[in-house]
Amino acid sequence: MVQSIGLPKEIKDGERRVALDPSAVKSCIQAGFDVFVETDAGVGAGFSNADYEAVGAKIASNADDTWAADLVVKVKEPQRSEWGFFRKNLILFAYLHLAAEPDLAQALVASGIDAYAYETLEERGGLPLLAPMSEVAGRTAAIVGAHYLASGSGVLLGGSAGVPPARVLVIGMGVAGTMAARGARGMDAEVTGVDIDLHRLYTAQQEGTLTATLASSEHAISEAIQDADLVVGAALVTGAKAPKLVLREHVASMKSGSVIVDLAIDQGGCVETSRPTSHSNPIYEELGVIHYCVTNVPGQYPKTASRALSAAVVPKLVRLARDPGDSALKGSLNVAKGEVVHPVVAAALSR
Ligand SMILES: NC(=O)c1ccc[n+]([C@@H]2O[C@H](COP(=O)([O-])OP(=O)(O)OC[C@H]3O[C@@H](n4cnc5c(N)ncnc54)[C@H](O)[C@@H]3O)[C@@H](O)[C@H]2O)c1
Repeated sequence: MVQSIGLPKEIKDGERRVALDPSAVKSCIQAGFDVFVETDAGVGAGFSNADYEAVGAKIASNADDTWAADLVVKVKEPQRSEWGFFRKNLILFAYLHLAAEPDLAQALVASGIDAYAYETLEERGGLPLLAPMSEVAGRTAAIVGAHYLASGSGVLLGGSAGVPPARVLVIGMGVAGTMAARGARGMDAEVTGVDIDLHRLYTAQQEGTLTATLASSEHAISEAIQDADLVVGAALVTGAKAPKLVLREHVASMKSGSVIVDLAIDQGGCVETSRPTSHSNPIYEELGVIHYCVTNVPGQYPKTASRALSAAVVPKLVRLARDPGDSALKGSLNVAKGEVVHPVVAAALSR
C-alpha cells in the first residue's frame, strides 16, 4: 500500500522542471498521502521550498529521503547515479523512453521495481502524459530552429519583401509536429507536414497550420528535404524505437547550414545522423547540417512545462497511489516483477 510519495530534484543536464508543482502536491496530500519533496526540487521552475511547505509537504534534505518513499514521481528517466535507489516494491512514475535506453531497462528489470512510464499511457486515442510536453517541445522546436538558422545558412524563417520565406519540413504531425508547424507558420515560413495519417494532414491543412502536405514515404521525404531549410523530426510509434525516416543520404542532400531539430531523439531519433545532445551542448554539425537533438527540450521552459506536466500527472498519480493495479493505468506499466511487460517496449528492446 502506498502511503508516501517522493519528489526528487531532477539531475539530468539542464533539466529545471519538477514533476509536481505545489498545487499538485496539495492534491496528493488532500488525497491522504505524505509527500517528501527534495530541497530545492522546484527552484528551477520558480517554486521555493516554502511554497511546498505551505501546502503541507515535508522537505527532504537529500535525494535518499525522497527515494525512500513508497512511490517516486519525477520528470526524466533516472540517471545512472539514481539507479542505486531502485528496489523491489518501489513504484516509479516518470518518462522512461526505454526503447532507446536498454541499460536503464536492464537496471529496472534487475532491481524488481515497478516502473510506470508517462509516455506509453494511452487514453481516448492520445497520450495524455506525453502530450503536454510534446506541445512545449513542438513550440520550442520552431524557436530553436529559427535561432540556429541564424548561425547556419543565415536564412530568416519569414523571408522579407522580395525574398521568399524559408521552407520547413515537419515529419510526424502529431502533437509535437503540429505545434512546431504552428510556430513556424507564425513566423511566416512555408511549412510542409509529413505523416502516414492523411486525416491528420487534412485537418492541419484545413486549420491553416500547413502550407502543404505530404504522405510519408522514403521517396517523398528524399525529394522534399533537398529544399528544406529546417527539418523537425516528430514521428512516433508509441513505445517503439522511432522509425528512421530521414536517412544519411537525405541529410547529405540538404543545403549547407540547414537545421534539423530531431524531437524524436528521446525514442532514438527519426533521423539517421541524430545522436542525443544536452542543454549544455545542444548542437553538432554533420554533413554540413546543424543537428539539435536535445532529449529534454521542455526543460528550458521549466515554469510552463512543470505546470503543464503536473496538471496532467496528478490525477493519474493519485489513482496509481490508490491502486497500482488500476486497469486504466495498465498502458503505462513498462517493468514489473523483473520483466519488461509493455509488449511494444519489450519487442523494441529484444531487437
Ligand atoms: N526531445 C524532447 O524533449 C521531446 C519532448 C516531448 C516529446 N518528444 C518526442 O516527440 C515525438 C512526437 O511526440 P508526439 O506526442 O507528437 O507524438 P504523437 O503520437 O502525437 O504524434 C506522432 C506522429 O507521428 C506520425 N508517424 C508515425 N509513423 C510515421 C511515419 N512513418 N512517417 C511520418 N509520420 C509518422 C503519427 O501518425 C503521428 O501523427 C516523440 O518521440 C516524443 O517522445 C520529445
